Amino acid sequence: MNAATTLTPQRFLTGITTSGTPHLGNYVGSIRPSVAASLGASAQSYYFLADYHALIKCDDPARIQRSTLEIAASWLAAGLNPERVTFYRQSDIPEITELTWLLTCVTGKGVLNRAHAYKAAVDKNEAAGNDPDAEITAGLFMYPVLMGADILMFKAHKVPVGRDQIQHIEMARDMAQRFNHLYGEHLVLPEALIEESVATLPGLDGRKMSKSYDNTIPLFSSREQLKKLIAGIVTDSRAPGEAKEITGSALFQIYQAFASEAETADMRQAYADGIAWGDAKTKLFERIDQDVAPMREQYQALINDPAKIETILQAGAEKARSVATPLMRELRQAVGLRKLVAVTAPAAKPKAAKAAQPGFKQYREADGQFYFKMLSSEGKLLLQSRAYAVPKEAAQAIAALQQQGEQALAPLAEQLQPLEGVQHEEVALALRQLLAALTSP
Ligand code: TRP
Repeated sequence: MNAATTLTPQRFLTGITTSGTPHLGNYVGSIRPSVAASLGASAQSYYFLADYHALIKCDDPARIQRSTLEIAASWLAAGLNPERVTFYRQSDIPEITELTWLLTCVTGKGVLNRAHAYKAAVDKNEAAGNDPDAEITAGLFMYPVLMGADILMFKAHKVPVGRDQIQHIEMARDMAQRFNHLYGEHLVLPEALIEESVATLPGLDGRKMSKSYDNTIPLFSSREQLKKLIAGIVTDSRAPGEAKEITGSALFQIYQAFASEAETADMRQAYADGIAWGDAKTKLFERIDQDVAPMREQYQALINDPAKIETILQAGAEKARSVATPLMRELRQAVGLRKLVAVTAPAAKPKAAKAAQPGFKQYREADGQFYFKMLSSEGKLLLQSRAYAVPKEAAQAIAALQQQGEQALAPLAEQLQPLEGVQHEEVALALRQLLAALTSP
């Protein structure tokens, strides 16, 4: 453990959507690294059942409930200790939906247009010649914002997720940055945590293991069922004795996700030596079962006692809300959702944060013309525009300066008035500060 992690307790947070039965991909990509992280001495961990997210893809109430039970039982069976971590159900925390709205209001619609899941649905419609938004709910569109609320609500530093979720974490980060920029430093900027060796697990057909491809291997099936499913993993037609390719071999990748380095090296050698696919599958089955068997029993006991799980989740919700409720109170205050009797009260923090930044002012003079100026963080006049006939032109010039920084100065030279005692370097510095505030952590 390095110095930084010992000094600042790192908060980990992750969720699993409760719309299916946990599979090996969930285990390797999320449950296992999460449980491991929760055992670290200085870690604070939040793990939750993302049942609001489940509603986006599932309209079968019984399935949502059953999946919630199965996933909760899986995490507990995999060793999650609810005494040490905060383990809860998303929908038990009403503050999350409340924060979703605040974040919705600082998230660009264009950003959400580019979210992978939504874009994929649009592309599919377009390919089929349908209306681009046919059958797409606003829930799918808003998915990243709800996820942002999940993460930012608990000020998570690290979010262990699969590679496909990185974009969502980056969006959450942008939301936090934008919120902090507008209202002061309230939210922590999260980072995705990817276990490099096992980023995403392939499924039976070699594509990413995913409910939506129907190519999953359930984490908890019987030994026989597990064996049968593993026998169904796609392989090529190379005969026993023929050397096998590791690259692109789903079987090898799944094996690697469970095996130690030494075991993986042995399997690599076995591939080179032409192991028969049937034998490779047996090895894979035994290796997985070695990890799963002890958890399987625990899982069955939990599934048979839903009341016990419910009690654990209620205790978790109480713990989670002891963080969420005060933060939400703070955020409501920050954005101006305040009691009217406290009109002049705590604007201090956001003001101070804003005052530390250079800024633009766009305004209209008595001559009826439009202008803008830029002030340094100390309030010194750094740029003064000439007159514009329409406000849009002033706004475009400001946008160019905000987005391109120093580079926009030359093309705009004719629109700016010369100012005594202002160095080019001062202006460039202020523009860099602005850019940094918009784009960096
Ligand atoms: N979107 C995640 C998935 O499908 C689940 C999820 C919801 C999540 N909210 C989250 C993961 C917050 C991490 C953090 O896998």
